[in-house]
This record gives sequence, structure tokens and C-alpha cells, in this order.
Amino acid sequence: MNLATTYLGLPLKNPVMPGASPLVDKLDNVRRLEDAGAAAIVLHSLFEEQITNEQIAEFAHTENPAESFAEAVSYFPKMEDYSLGPDRYLDQISRIKQSVDIPVIASLNGVTKGGWIDYARLIQDAGADALELNVYYIATDPDEPGTAVEKRTLDILTAVKESVTIPVAVKLSPFFSSPGHFAKQLDSLGAAGVILFNRFYQPDIDIEELEATHRLDLSNSTELRLRLRWAAILHGHLKADIAVSGGVHTVEDIIKAIMCGASVVQVVSCLLKYGPSHIGGLITGLSQWLEDHDYNSVDEMRGSMSLRHCPDPSVFERANYLRVLQLWKV
Ligand SMILES: Cc1cc2nc3c(=O)[nH]c(=O)nc-3n(C[C@H](O)[C@H](O)[C@H](O)COP(=O)(O)O)c2cc1C
Repeated sequence: MNLATTYLGLPLKNPVMPGASPLVDKLDNVRRLEDAGAAAIVLHSLFEEQITNEQIAEFAHTENPAESFAEAVSYFPKMEDYSLGPDRYLDQISRIKQSVDIPVIASLNGVTKGGWIDYARLIQDAGADALELNVYYIATDPDEPGTAVEKRTLDILTAVKESVTIPVAVKLSPFFSSPGHFAKQLDSLGAAGVILFNRFYQPDIDIEELEATHRLDLSNSTELRLRLRWAAILHGHLKADIAVSGGVHTVEDIIKAIMCGASVVQVVSCLLKYGPSHIGGLITGLSQWLEDHDYNSVDEMRGSMSLRHCPDPSVFERANYLRVLQLWKV
């Protein structure tokens, strides 16, 4: 079965890759993922805070900062809280590149237009084949309009694009008021791909201790539906490739994402649950399913259920909302 696909201009042997997570901090896991058939390796993010923290720490060390500045340093997370600091992150890219033959995609994660963006070039120099940009921003200021939130990402993309030649994809939040329009703006600035979507981790509240608590729950397949809807809506409107990330756990999930227009899927929760070799079962299962259903290639099925091609496009629109609510029987 021909599972080959192209993503961010990179020819891939199939459309399934691990998403950004610490799984690939260990070279053992990287090799296991490649052996199991992963199409590419995606590193976890290098965060703006890590870079800024290191730059500030360096400055603090050499410049003997004033008390107020020393206090500012203390607000940043400690470097040892992260598994890979900026230098080790760059080393890890080189090490992974030397260990595998599949493309390596790095990830930069930040929200301001600052010096941390220079790391895009260092990531490219370290050998990454492409870069994911994750502007994980929570708009907590009620006076900040949506246009300013969008501009933040557009400006960061522009700055990154100016400093690298490798393809740059943007991992999107689902919380834009017009995600399609925003994706088209990123597309016109030269984003090579959009990743649908960031998964936002919501804090809970401890009602006894009166504090916010943090827990990371892994996803399940129900989270895929939000991604399916937007992949289906965007398919055919962008030059950029669509990657689906969030809620892909089974072969059926992969098929749905591709039918809605995804070039590739990224999987994390299922790999954290079942281990890197799980990706092999997904790829074999995809191939088998295509064969059983008389497809010749994965390309043949892409977009067949997108808004443009779907026999009943209203399932992705408001009409479906009405239908679903009215079908509920008490
Ligand atoms: C432990 C963990 C670490 C993650 N780290 C990153 C990261 O560094 N950068 C990023 O863009 N996404 C990160 N993600 C999000 C995943 O890449 C992915 O988008 C999300 O988990 C949804 O996919 P899933 O449903 O297959 O888990 C992380 C997810 C998990 C569970």
C-alpha cells in the first residue's frame, strides 16, 4: 500500500508521527519510534522562558544585577525543572539527526517578539528539517482585543520566517473567533503547515487548600472531533499542510483525520499510554484498512470528507447543532 505523503515539503513514508512530547528526550525512544515506522520525529518545545531564563541567568552572573532584577530572576522556572535546557536541546537535535534517517522537526514555544526567536536559526543550524511554532498564549487581559492576540502570532511567525529557511508550521489554538481566517493569514505569511490544535491544560481548584492545581490528563478519541471539523473546513483553502494533533488513538481516528483533509497526524497520549511501538500497529492497521477498502494510496482518500467534498457538509455547520440537540430524547 502506498502510504507516502508530503508534509511541510518533506517526503514522508507514511502520515503518522509522534507529536511534541518529552518521549524523544531519550535516544532509545527515538530509535524505537523509527523502528516502529514513525514518519518523522517531533521534539518537545524549547520554551521562551527557558531561553530567557538562561539569558537572564548569564546576565545576572556577569553584571551583578540590582536587587529588583535579582527578584525578577526568581520568577522564572528553575532550569532543572526542564529536562533539556537550550544548549542541550540543540545538542539533542544533532544527536537525533545522527541516529535516524527520518526528518526531525523541532518546536519553539513562546509568546513575545523577543530575543528567544534567535533560537529558530540555532535550531536550523543544529540540523532540524523543519520547525513547529507554538504560541501558547492565554489572553487573560480583558482589554486585549482578539486582533492583538492574532497579531502576536503573525508577528512571531514573520520574525521566525525572516531568520530561517527551513519550513515553519504553526500549532494553533482552537479558540480564535474565526480560525479559518486566521489560518489563511498564517498561510499568506508562508506558514508551511498548521497543526490543529494545541491541547490546553486547564487548572483545577483545590477547594480545601484554596489553590489552583495542575494535572495533565491524557486525551481520548472524543477530542478528535474538534480537529476533524476544522480540518474539514480548512481543507482546500490553504497552501499550508494540515496536521491533526489531539485525540488520535486508533486506526479509525487516523482515517477520519485524513478523510477530513489532514496530510499527517501527530500522536502523543496513545504513545505515552502504550509506548513508542504502538505507532507500528497504527501504521500497519492503516495500510490494512486501505487495502480492505480498495484504496491505492493514502492520497486517494485525503479530503474525501472535507466540507467541499462531503456528501452532507451541514454536519460541520450549524444545521448539525440543531439536529443533534433535537435528536436528544428524554
Ligand atoms: C507530557 C506532554 C508534553 C507535551 N509537550 C509539548 C510541547 O513541548 N510542545 C507542544 O507543542 N506540545 C506538547 N504537548 C502536546 C502534544 O504535542 C499534543 O498536541 C497533545 O498532547 C494532543 O495530542 P494527543 O491527544 O495525541 O495527546 C505535550 C503533551 C504531553 C502529554
